[in-house]
Amino acid sequence: MRSAEFVPPHGTRVDINDRRLMKRIMALGEVGGLPGGGCNRLALTDADRDGRNLVVAWMRDLNMNVAIDVVGNIVGTWQVGTGAPVMTGSHIDTVRTGGLYDGNYGVLAGLEVIETCQERGIEPRRPLAVGIFTDEEGARYAPDMLGSLVYVGGMLPETAHDVIGIDGTRLGDELERIGYLGATPCPGVVPHAFVELHIEQGPLLEVNQVRIGAVTGVQGISWQEVTIEGQSNHAGTTPMHLRKDPAFAAAKLTVFLRDLATRLAGNQVCTVGKIDVHPNLTNVVPSKVVMTLDVRNTDESILQSAEADIARFCEELAVAERVRIVRRPLARFEPVIFDDRVVDLVESVARDRGNSVQRMPSGAGHDAQMLARLCPTGMIFVPSHGGLSHNVNEHTDEADLVSGANILLDVMLRLAGTNF
Ligand code: GLV
Ligand code: MN
Ligand code: MN
Repeated sequence: MRSAEFVPPHGTRVDINDRRLMKRIMALGEVGGLPGGGCNRLALTDADRDGRNLVVAWMRDLNMNVAIDVVGNIVGTWQVGTGAPVMTGSHIDTVRTGGLYDGNYGVLAGLEVIETCQERGIEPRRPLAVGIFTDEEGARYAPDMLGSLVYVGGMLPETAHDVIGIDGTRLGDELERIGYLGATPCPGVVPHAFVELHIEQGPLLEVNQVRIGAVTGVQGISWQEVTIEGQSNHAGTTPMHLRKDPAFAAAKLTVFLRDLATRLAGNQVCTVGKIDVHPNLTNVVPSKVVMTLDVRNTDESILQSAEADIARFCEELAVAERVRIVRRPLARFEPVIFDDRVVDLVESVARDRGNSVQRMPSGAGHDAQMLARLCPTGMIFVPSHGGLSHNVNEHTDEADLVSGANILLDVMLRLAGTNF
């Protein structure tokens, strides 16, 4: 990639259609919409299928070539110009209590970039593509970013098909059931460059009163499932000193994770997001707890030492509480650094459009971190109200959504070169 293939002549700025962008965001948000707001489109459910069908129909309206690959990734390409495409994209699956913007915004802004070019007669010198990657959230099937991981050749499609979800379903079966087991092979087409537009999902831009984040990379992610087995017994008759109580052990582990994050400080974060207690009854000392740990850091060596501390603590806990503890890795991705040329381009384009810009790493995982294995990659962040995400109240002001999409337009055209 050459860094500045196209410099728009002074005064020829083109803007995306803000009403059309917002209309599509709201329409997709209604698919799997929750009564109190927000969305539930867990990967490969009926709601995910309906969301996919809607966006694919929009792609076809724009005369994009739609390819569906062997893990259900959808790549819509506007076949203009020649050579490898400049690609954008994200995901449209959500967590069970998701918002309207996480992932969806980046995909729909990609369509908006293409529609804007088409109606303004802008002809990029390279094709423009929009990817919708399967199961980015990992909320139903671990790991997260599964579709983009397979796209870049980091996981075999057959391995992905055999992943069992939180509801006992097999990913490959669900893919087939919803009609998105495609034939296009993975690894997929190598783009000329990839840039993903996303809401920040954290508080930094808002707190610093900065409009745009030029994302420098993504922190490392370590997910594991911990199963703690004790002995089920009567809550009224079993003396405290005779218990083998996995719920108490789980509580201790949860507290340990919080203390670990506090001790490591910096940007270390630790989360226990899922706890299943069996048999989950008031008057029964539980027999088993299955819980998840989500541990992240921008520094790989600190992340590794956090993992070692957790392993040691679990061994000691098993002895102290007389329970059996088994840990199973669910996802492990090292920190990713984006291509400086793309980060610089995002920053300069955003400043040209009059925005304040902060260079920042991403706290959340993104498909872009997988695409970075294939081609020069970067991301654009817009602020999230109150730093809220993975929450039905996730919100970004329309002005920020529009401004991010305009920056995506300029960045993609700069990466593709154009006759405009
Ligand atoms: C993916 O969305 C993650 O960061 O959990
Ligand atoms: Mn996302
Ligand atoms: Mn998410």
